[in-house]
Amino acid sequence: MKLIMENWRQYMNEEDEEVIELTTDDQKAKAAALETLVFKGPTPNTKHHRSFGIFDDGDLVAMTRVNLRPLSSWKKKDDDYDKVSVLDPVAAISATAVNPTHRRRGFATKLKKHLQGEFGSLLTGTGPKSHESMARINLKLGFKPVLRRGKNTQYFWSSGEEEEED
Ligand SMILES: CC(C)(COP(=O)(O)OP(=O)(O)OC[C@H]1O[C@@H](n2cnc3c(N)ncnc32)[C@H](O)[C@@H]1OP(=O)(O)O)[C@@H](O)C(=O)NCCC(=O)NCCS
Repeated sequence: MKLIMENWRQYMNEEDEEVIELTTDDQKAKAAALETLVFKGPTPNTKHHRSFGIFDDGDLVAMTRVNLRPLSSWKKKDDDYDKVSVLDPVAAISATAVNPTHRRRGFATKLKKHLQGEFGSLLTGTGPKSHESMARINLKLGFKPVLRRGKNTQYFWSSGEEEEED
């Protein structure tokens, strides 16, 4: 009975094309599978991460992770650490992945917009393996490029800056 209730609750939460947080073991397994499909590599340590996703007909078709320790991958000795840490981002977005069957339907945009509603400031990066549309999505959503290193760009968004611009 408990299992039926859990499945029912999970099903009810997985409204098609709505962004939901991925919290159950089943949802996390689906997120890992989608990440592996899209990035074709191992998932890094996700201990301090939360994941969000969009379902279509029971399938997880879009996902993104949010690192709640956004500066953990930056080494303090790194010259650029200060440039990023001064921004004091609440979280960093990583691993935004949309199944190739569901691209160009606004799902990545929707995921990032959702995170802008959940977190006051966000860091997000693009690199040589990022799909070209991600830089445009970031700019459209008000993220500003704050650091360029080789082919990597870090973008930053803060709700405070948006209010100042109004
Ligand atoms: C990058 C990625 C996440 C984008 O996902 P997506 O859901 O296709 O993104 P969106 O639909 O929000 O936006 C993509 C494009 O579709 C357009 N679009 C959005 N809604 C649309 C719609 N309803 N109809 C047609 N086009 C649409 C957007 O304007 C955007 O256009 P542009 O590239 O010309 O600027 C996806 O391509 C992906 O998983 N790539 C591989 C992994 C990757 O690179 N991840 C990012 C790492 S930084």
